Amino acid sequence: MCGIVGFVGKKHAAPILLEGLLKLEYRGYDSAGIAVLEDNKISVSKTTQRIKDLYDKTNNGKDMSCNIGIGHTRWATHGAPTEFNAHPHLNEDKKFAVVHNGIIENYISIKEQLIKDGVTFVSETDTEVIPHLINKYYNGDLLSAISRALTQLEGSFALGIICTDFPDTIVAAKKFSPLIIGVCEDANMVASDVTAVCTHTKDIIYMEDGDIALIKENEVKIYSECKQVERKISHITWDIAATEKGGFDHFMMKEIFEQPKAIAQTIAGRIKDGRVCFDGLKLNSETLKEIDNIFIVACGSAYHAGIVGKYVLEELLRKPVQVDLASEFRYRNPMVDENTLTIVISQSGETADTLAALKEASSRGSHTLAIVNVVGSSIAQAADDVLYTKAGPEIAVATTKGYSTQLCMLYLFAAWAAQSMGGVPDDELESFISSIASLPKNTQKVLSQSEKIASMANHINGQNSLFFIGRNIDYAVSLEASLKLKEISYIHSEAYAAGELKHGTISLIEEGRTVIALGCYDQLFEKLLSNIKEVKARGAYVMGCTTTGNSEMETACDSVIYVPKTHKLMVASLEVIPFQIFAYYVALDKGCDIDKPRNLAKSVTVE
Ligand code: G6P
Repeated sequence: MCGIVGFVGKKHAAPILLEGLLKLEYRGYDSAGIAVLEDNKISVSKTTQRIKDLYDKTNNGKDMSCNIGIGHTRWATHGAPTEFNAHPHLNEDKKFAVVHNGIIENYISIKEQLIKDGVTFVSETDTEVIPHLINKYYNGDLLSAISRALTQLEGSFALGIICTDFPDTIVAAKKFSPLIIGVCEDANMVASDVTAVCTHTKDIIYMEDGDIALIKENEVKIYSECKQVERKISHITWDIAATEKGGFDHFMMKEIFEQPKAIAQTIAGRIKDGRVCFDGLKLNSETLKEIDNIFIVACGSAYHAGIVGKYVLEELLRKPVQVDLASEFRYRNPMVDENTLTIVISQSGETADTLAALKEASSRGSHTLAIVNVVGSSIAQAADDVLYTKAGPEIAVATTKGYSTQLCMLYLFAAWAAQSMGGVPDDELESFISSIASLPKNTQKVLSQSEKIASMANHINGQNSLFFIGRNIDYAVSLEASLKLKEISYIHSEAYAAGELKHGTISLIEEGRTVIALGCYDQLFEKLLSNIKEVKARGAYVMGCTTTGNSEMETACDSVIYVPKTHKLMVASLEVIPFQIFAYYVALDKGCDIDKPRNLAKSVTVE
């Protein structure tokens, strides 16, 4: 997804912009560019290759002498990934340069009008209308020209703008797309997320919708509805080293191995004397009693976490839980009202469909609770209540610790709600909560088997399709295991509820077909065993995953991986890990770009 970085200060801006773009690479992009002000002229360099190409084109930034500039990584939405379509976009006499995240929904009508006014466009993008529109309204007053142009734009935007008449100022503006200001010493920065600025500062201003900021070396002035406003500076605690690979070859493996720590951070301070405590939630035992149904809404892996959540919440709360894909929920007139609790789950907190679904639920009177990793993100701001997963920055496109910490937060929430509402016997709740507390330790035990999992992954060499099967929570995990494999190795796989195989899909089982059977949910293990026998009888090669001590799996399967025993509702947390590692090694064997799989973006901020 697109990324923005801007810098104004004493230092040489171009190398700082390039470094910022490198940090934004993880979001996924297909082209990139920077624009700087040199001797009151705007110079631009763009690429449709990697950021490394921009380094080469600008002699590591040395060829662009400047103290102010803006940069962008683009993930194409309007127009192909070409240099013409790459940002920054300029107006005709090159007075203004603009970088933009988001979508201008009414750009066609604006473009038609501008063409009638005599403007010539050079790109197919929605963004290019912005510099032309600002230029149209400009008469020497930068803020008023930009404000006027922005009132015409429908849709979403985060913008960084420079103008040759104001060589000391970056203008930043935000509506429905994230934008932050990094407050530095003798400099200031603007960026779409903190990763781009965190080597320079940890003091961050989260801009709000409707804000326009005039950013200079030693001054930041923010305006909203034509009045100057104060926005607080938040000090982020993310470690700079945490955004780097820390000795692993890929961010994905680093993040897989960070899971014990990440889960421990999710739990930290939230279990006291055997009970779950959340600070500052508006939801309480009274409001919970009014709730008669729960929706969980999310996209991608967060949706898969939600499916596990359904099993857990229904079991502990005995209230109906529906899980929906945000892109479906938002358009299907959902049966949500003031007696519904809507839980949205999002690692980034910026997924456009999830945000829209949250607003839809809210508009119908539902209480909204967001489970989010990124502090201050759009979803966190829009929800009635937020529970932060505290996983730290996740860089690999394929989520691992993001998903695991979402699961952990769902367990914590389920326990807290059960505590608040009563109904679950004390000893059962105690055992559930103590199993949450043991998750970091148990997760570590699974990681110690990564070599064995790597050799199992070897077996997939040359195969182009396989199956994951499971029942109940094992089925929920098989969805995530299959997605992980598809995302990064490009090998097709299908996750199937094991009992459903015989209703069609078993026709695809043939000699040598790999079937991965997830069997950690002990209560239905015997049923799964029958399904394993069905596929074995048709020639399948079966890899199994079950809990320590289950020797029946060993007999039934060609190879088995074991995870420690835990509470039956928490098996997902341990069972998913071998398959994150498995997907990683399959992708590694195939030579895939593991951290940045083709066509995928980390944070999908457009519909
Ligand atoms: C993208 C990512 C997925 C992620 C999904 C939801 O598709 O590639 O890994 O699960 O978005 O993201 P969120 O940030 O809302 O959890």
